[in-house]
Amino acid sequence: MTPFKWVYSFLKKYRGKMLLGLFFTTFIALLTIVYPVISGIIVDDVIGAGNYAKLPVLIGSLLGVTVLKGVLRYSSQILFEICSQGVLYSMRDTVYRKFLSEDIGFYNRHRTGDLMSRQTGDMDAVRHFFAHTIYTLYENSLLLSFALIMIFTVNVKLALCMLIVLPFTAITTYGQSKQVRPAFSKIRQQYSSLNAFVQENISGNRVVKAFAKEDYEIEKFNKENDAYREAELEASGIWMKYVPIFEFLSNVLTVVLMVYGGYMVIKGEMTMGDLVTVNGYLWMLMVPLRFCGWWINDVHRFVTSAEKIYTTYNQEPNVKRPERPVERTHFRGDVSFRDVSYKADNADIISDISFDVKAGQTVGIIGTTGSGKSTVMNLLCRFFDTAQGEVLVDGVNVKDLDLYDLRDNIGIAMQDVFLFSDTIEGNIAYGRPDCSFEEVKKAAKMADANLFIQNMPDGYDTIVGERGVGLSGGQKQRISLARALIKDPAILILDDTTSAVDMETESYIQKQLKNIEKDCTIFIIAYRISSIKDADLILVMDNGRIVERGTHDELVAAGGYYATAFHHQYGDFQKGGDEDGKK
Ligand SMILES: Nc1ncnc2c1ncn2[C@@H]1O[C@H](COP(=O)(O)OP(=O)(O)O)[C@@H](O)[C@H]1O
Ligand SMILES: [Mg+2]
Repeated sequence: MTPFKWVYSFLKKYRGKMLLGLFFTTFIALLTIVYPVISGIIVDDVIGAGNYAKLPVLIGSLLGVTVLKGVLRYSSQILFEICSQGVLYSMRDTVYRKFLSEDIGFYNRHRTGDLMSRQTGDMDAVRHFFAHTIYTLYENSLLLSFALIMIFTVNVKLALCMLIVLPFTAITTYGQSKQVRPAFSKIRQQYSSLNAFVQENISGNRVVKAFAKEDYEIEKFNKENDAYREAELEASGIWMKYVPIFEFLSNVLTVVLMVYGGYMVIKGEMTMGDLVTVNGYLWMLMVPLRFCGWWINDVHRFVTSAEKIYTTYNQEPNVKRPERPVERTHFRGDVSFRDVSYKADNADIISDISFDVKAGQTVGIIGTTGSGKSTVMNLLCRFFDTAQGEVLVDGVNVKDLDLYDLRDNIGIAMQDVFLFSDTIEGNIAYGRPDCSFEEVKKAAKMADANLFIQNMPDGYDTIVGERGVGLSGGQKQRISLARALIKDPAILILDDTTSAVDMETESYIQKQLKNIEKDCTIFIIAYRISSIKDADLILVMDNGRIVERGTHDELVAAGGYYATAFHHQYGDFQKGGDEDGKK
């Protein structure tokens, strides 16, 4: 599909209204040519021949035409507005849905501000085209054609003379189009870039402040701002060269009419009334010519924006929903990884990951930062697809499960907590908006969040700022944990969820997790041994591989990375004793 077919597909629903609007516009154009005809008659018959009886009828018709035109103009404007807003609405909706269906890779590739410009500035250029440009172009083409036809009926020689400007107009239009197109493309690019910069800076404002980097950021902003201004000026530089040419061509028409028309009137080949009539049509030729340059701009703004929106829209997610998913709405929670590896940009991120977990078991994952712990969980949620091997949930490959069914059964408290600007209750109930307040409170209690929430000014109704502004790291983690728990998931993933809470709170949460009524498979990623030591299976990861596995006791006995970490965190009593014994 081309970008324009795609854009047209949104117009289809409004085609009837659009055509009706264009029909009204045709009518308006036809009525417009009545004015000069009546003026001509007034000059020749009323003023020239003294036929004053005709005057009331003629003036009555002028008034009638004016009123009718007004009504038609009003109706057509409303129709075009409805169409353009309708197109904008469905396009925005479709693009937004597509954004939501995109995988995490898509969001890694695109800057937020960039995606925002697709939905704002670019969409508006498309709307402007449907609300104004289409009918303006159509009406003026009609006026130009009608005026030419009418001038032909008045005087063929004069009409032919006036046609001289058309080829020049065509050449100029072509020239401007060709030059201005890349310039507009650049404008859209710079606009996106500026938008992305501002978005990133506002989001990251706290870091900027913490490092006192305001001056540095202002300098960078100025560069973006300059680049955008330059792009706009460059485009203006191009079309401004053409505006005077169009202006000149439209003025040539007046000269032709006055010189050649006047000459014919003097020679008696044309009446004065005819000259007045043609003069009345003159503006219908001049306006399209004069504004040609601006319309070319509008068209190109639309074309570049439509292309940009479509290109972003047209990116298919790598993580696809299966065509015929295995029907499964409730999972037990068995998880198996079979020789799983994952690559990003051809670099191995994780390799040869294999393990089996029975429903209801707890798995602890520990390892250095960047060792691939979160990646393993991302593959389980199918945020990415494996490069090799299989991830099975209840014995079914996750690629064969419906993405929503799969994720509906997983509760995840992610490593970087994101909270919406909503009430605390709204944030906790995010996965189950229909749940009762009691359930929200229960989940909060399990996550040891109930107390601090109740102490907040509006309790559960406290609105947390964007991303949870106003809460401490540990508080955010606990809300995020409550949000995962309330889903009552078959698989619960806690990715570094208790790193920012104190030991006491952590041990309380651990106890609560053991009390979950439903059999729930739990994955705990943590740096603290205390978080995972009771797990049924502990996996130690390093450099994308599982280097040790077993229970706490087995791993301590094995004396590897886990044992060292254990001794570091719990002191060296045992280690010292053992070593003494060996000596
Ligand atoms: N989308 C990605 N593209 C490229 N590299 C990635 C991507 N995601 C993660 N990585 C890399 O993969 C490695 C493992 O990351 P991660 O699983 O987040 O580690 P952990 O959670 O153990 O700290 C890191 O070296 C990280 O830089
Ligand atoms: Mg991680």
